[in-house]
Amino acid sequence: MATELTRNFSIIAHIDHGKTTLSDRLLEFTQTISEREKQDQLLDAMDLEREKGITIKSHPVAMQYTAKDGVTYRLNLLDTPGHVDFSYEVARSLAACEGAILMVDAAQGVEAQTMANLHLAMGQNLIIIPVLNKIDLPAADVDKCKQQLEDILAIPAEDAIPASAKNGIGIEEILEAVVARVPAPIENEDKLLRASVFDSVYDAYRGVISYVRVFSGTIRKRQRIKLFATGKTYEVKEVGVFTPKMTERDELIAGDVGYVIANMKSADEAKIGDTLTDATHPCPEALPGYKEIQPMVFSGIYPVDSSDYEGLKTAMGKLQINDAAFSYSSESSTALGFGFRCGFLGLLHMEIIQERLRREFNMDVISTYPSVIYEVTKTSGEDVIVDNPSFLPEPQEIQEIREPMVKVYLMIPGEYIGDMMALVMEKRGDVVHTETIDDTRVMLTCELPLSEILVDFNDRMKSMTRGYGSMDYEHHGYRPAKMVKMDMLIASEPVEAFSTIVHRDKAEGYGRALALKLKEVIPQQLFVVAIQACIGGKIVASERISAMRKNVTAKCYGGDITRKRKLLEKQKKGKEKMKQFGKVSIPQEAFIKVLKSG
Ligand code: GTP
Repeated sequence: MATELTRNFSIIAHIDHGKTTLSDRLLEFTQTISEREKQDQLLDAMDLEREKGITIKSHPVAMQYTAKDGVTYRLNLLDTPGHVDFSYEVARSLAACEGAILMVDAAQGVEAQTMANLHLAMGQNLIIIPVLNKIDLPAADVDKCKQQLEDILAIPAEDAIPASAKNGIGIEEILEAVVARVPAPIENEDKLLRASVFDSVYDAYRGVISYVRVFSGTIRKRQRIKLFATGKTYEVKEVGVFTPKMTERDELIAGDVGYVIANMKSADEAKIGDTLTDATHPCPEALPGYKEIQPMVFSGIYPVDSSDYEGLKTAMGKLQINDAAFSYSSESSTALGFGFRCGFLGLLHMEIIQERLRREFNMDVISTYPSVIYEVTKTSGEDVIVDNPSFLPEPQEIQEIREPMVKVYLMIPGEYIGDMMALVMEKRGDVVHTETIDDTRVMLTCELPLSEILVDFNDRMKSMTRGYGSMDYEHHGYRPAKMVKMDMLIASEPVEAFSTIVHRDKAEGYGRALALKLKEVIPQQLFVVAIQACIGGKIVASERISAMRKNVTAKCYGGDITRKRKLLEKQKKGKEKMKQFGKVSIPQEAFIKVLKSG
């Protein structure tokens, strides 16, 4: 189909505002999927996604739509994830579009992510089609939402289309608006092949499948293509579009969104953001690339049973093939044995990977407390990056430590503003801007250290605002901070699984809490055990576990022989799981309990 009849667009929205439901309605209305093929929430294909109600991977879909003007258009819909951790995927999908539907739940109004996503879309100069969804709900207030569009987002209210994705209201109006308002792709005059790889997945049978948006030229089977980043050339085995199933086509032309299979064996060959061109007539320069994705949160992942190490390694490799944002490298710990240091985009990403290890690969894993990346300038003048407390240079070698910052947008009911400001302060942050959204809500723009929002910030904000608050964040550079490494000593032995990098002012409180927790989980020994939190040789908090007084085995008497044997076996197993630290044995469960509770 001709380039001028193509429309590429995305749907952007705050989580749960109805993006997936609308995508499904568009597919039904355009008969892209038949009733028989129809499955509830078709685009959220992965189990985990469905369960958590979030979209993780972007799935492009090609639809044919005959508009009221009698012309049939090809509409390529690029789905985008809704969660903050995945905003890099949103940006990638948007770069392949000319327009975006901005969905707002008419009962909820504009939310923090609506803002953040709109900023991304406007940054790419996309045409915005505002849709007010869920007008079927009694609480829907279309006029108020229109006012918010004008006041907060500076979008003309008359552009908004009221809709109910659930009940199929407004669907045709939305399709007409896409055809009328979203511009057709414009091809580069030299017509040389330029396609951007915006995603790639690995398929065990077909190898790497690259999702591409063609900006100019044509790509077809048996053509020799070249990738800019590596300079490697390949023969195209197949090209096609998603309907939403992969459907082979003879060629993809300028403006098309589809897939290319070209005998690539590993996902790093098709780097996301790379430009694909013709090997014989290459375009002179690459398309503007996407930013390289940097993991921001790190944590160790260890098998609970050390014999699962190889299995875990294989599982990690498989996960990485389909998730370029996930990184891992091997590491070992005295307490936890052999495992991996893993990098994630954020906490949700980390949770998803852990869940997938459990579910898809049947791995029982334990993860260490998440940490961020610090930049350290040593007194020698050398700069180092530290993603693991064990690698922090000695205090006397450190000139300055800088920690990653985030800019957080918080949208909350006005009555909680005092509580929220207190929470931001407790987390070492500043409120830099306050704006009234409507008669009930305010938006706070804050700057906070990333490490402080990692664990419970979102949960506390949610419970503080009774679930009405929403947040989004973007990375905001590095800032010098008084960070120190805190070690935990158990019977004078440091246990590195519990070492963390904390802010000096918070170290004592944190050390006290951790020492107390350890006191609860470490069993009594035959002697007194001291648990100490220690910074650079100085003890900042300590607890004691008193000595065991009576012989617990004295209670075991009588019973039949099989029961006794069972008990003995159980005991033996228990012993194996104990980790010896100097004179103290710590059961593996103690690590699991402490690390899991954060
Ligand atoms: P993420 O993928 O998690 O970002 O969510 P989403 O924006 O794709 O939202 P989704 O389509 O999953 O919808 C969220 C919830 O809202 C679901 O329970 C839908 O059934 C419901 N929903 C979507 N559209 C409408 C609507 O027009 N009216 C009503 N009443 N409910 C809707």
